[in-house]
Amino acid sequence: MPLILGLESSCDDSAVALVSGDRQILAQAVVGQDDAHRPFGGVVPEIAARAHVDILPGLIRQVLAEADVGIGEVDAIAATAGPGLIGGVMVALLAGKGLSIALRKPLLAVNHLEGHALSPRLVDRDLAFPYLLLLASGGHCQLLEVRGVGDYRRLATTIDDAAGEAFDKAAKLLGLGYPGGPAIEALARDGDPTAVKLPRPLVGSGEPHFSFAGLKGAVQREVAGGKHRPADVAASFQQAVMDCMVDRTRVAMAATDAPTLVVAGGVAANGALRSALGDLASAEGRAFSVPPAWLCTDNAAMIGWAGAERLALGMIDGLDAPARARWPLDQMAEKVRGAGAKA
Ligand code: KG4
Ligand code: ZN
Repeated sequence: MPLILGLESSCDDSAVALVSGDRQILAQAVVGQDDAHRPFGGVVPEIAARAHVDILPGLIRQVLAEADVGIGEVDAIAATAGPGLIGGVMVALLAGKGLSIALRKPLLAVNHLEGHALSPRLVDRDLAFPYLLLLASGGHCQLLEVRGVGDYRRLATTIDDAAGEAFDKAAKLLGLGYPGGPAIEALARDGDPTAVKLPRPLVGSGEPHFSFAGLKGAVQREVAGGKHRPADVAASFQQAVMDCMVDRTRVAMAATDAPTLVVAGGVAANGALRSALGDLASAEGRAFSVPPAWLCTDNAAMIGWAGAERLALGMIDGLDAPARARWPLDQMAEKVRGAGAKA
């Protein structure tokens, strides 16, 4: 079985993993940069890119040593080639190209979103195509029919903020710092999800798109009003996001007979969301699959695995593979009314 070295640096996590074509993760490591970005309340692209240059080479050495595998035993290099912060994307991609040249092994230029989209198949060998995927991360919130490797049909996207972005902005308003998702989830455990009345944007609409900007505005007004406990605001916010996701996913189910609902991306680490979507799937007679939380947030095991899937199909990239800031999974999907640059 081939051994694939996965490299990831598209946002604020530097990550390396060694995975095999038969779903073994021989070793992996992720180094976050939360402390470096926290004073700014979000990721600073220039700081992130420089940090990846510092961190990635040592991580490659560490992962190979932990797996007790020599660099010459690696069969292919899978590097994230986008989408993401372009300075960061270039770090892993160029490292991957350099290793590919030096080792004379194939390069797989992986779409980070495809890494998230295929990650459930790394831990769930029975998960077959097609499946309905809710992909919710810091930069994206989409419902996709995953038909195969490299074959995606977008059913819905956000018309403004991504789901993780909404968590991060709400957390900032509550003074919780960055990243916001885990902080909101922790605070929400002490709160009453019915305490604060918040909107559920687009719920009930016939198309399964998302919108979170209005929710952020409402949280801003609640925080400024100071009437409610922060824990109640956090719990009510999380409940509102969950209600939107459950409703939107239910609508998307009407557009696909894919038998399994899958959730992936950083926001899928949220325990309340995982259980609400699991309940939806069983109510709608669909199977449910969600990767463990460590595989939902950014990591290189998912990049190595997407590389393994592509390698098995002969989908190898040349050294001219570009670094892309924007790279939608469904290239045919049209812009949605009200949508900004995000697709
Ligand atoms: O997939 P990811 O690690 O990076 C991107 O590709 O964007 O997602 C990061 C996002 C952040 O916005 C973070 O706040 C959110 O995922 N997140 C969560 C949780 N853990 C991470 N959101 C809600 N609940 C969580 N437990
Ligand atoms: Zn991600």
